[in-house]
Amino acid sequence: MKVGIYPGSFDPITNGHINIIERAAKITDKVIVAVLNNNAKTALFTVEDRIKMIKDSLSGLSNVEVRSFDGLLIDFAKNEGATLIFRGLRAVSDYEYEMQLAHTNKALYPDIETIFLQSDTKHSYLSSSIVKEVASYGGDISEFVPSHVEAKLKMCYNR
Ligand code: PNS
Repeated sequence: MKVGIYPGSFDPITNGHINIIERAAKITDKVIVAVLNNNAKTALFTVEDRIKMIKDSLSGLSNVEVRSFDGLLIDFAKNEGATLIFRGLRAVSDYEYEMQLAHTNKALYPDIETIFLQSDTKHSYLSSSIVKEVASYGGDISEFVPSHVEAKLKMCYNR
């Protein structure tokens, strides 16, 4: 069984992430959405909230699991028997950072392969940070995130 990991902060999940997960689930037998639980990065939502928002966004995908991880991604991958890492690529600006991640992970764990999925055109500009910024000023984010995530963000920013 081919197991792939889709790692990220998901703070919070966006429609762009959901699109990548749906496509990754068609490519491999099992996808584990791995939510980074790392104290060094300050997140708006707790890891439990982020996991719940992801699970609530993925009804009907029977081969997708959602977990948190800390420490190195490749250690989590080894534990889960995963040999693929999925990452979304939005624009050229993502390329340098993503290459750094992919090469480092490959150097640490040669059996791992990173598969890049290009974001679909509709979501190619989306990021969790941009969504949070728009939400914090009371802007309309209904096109960017599922309605339950929109409600959570509005609650966070008292909108
Ligand atoms: O959505 P993000 O924040 O761009 O995801 C980044 C993530 C979680 C994939 C990356 O920070 C990560 O894998 N962190 C775990 C620590 C690790 O393994 N670092 C070494 C790879 S360079």
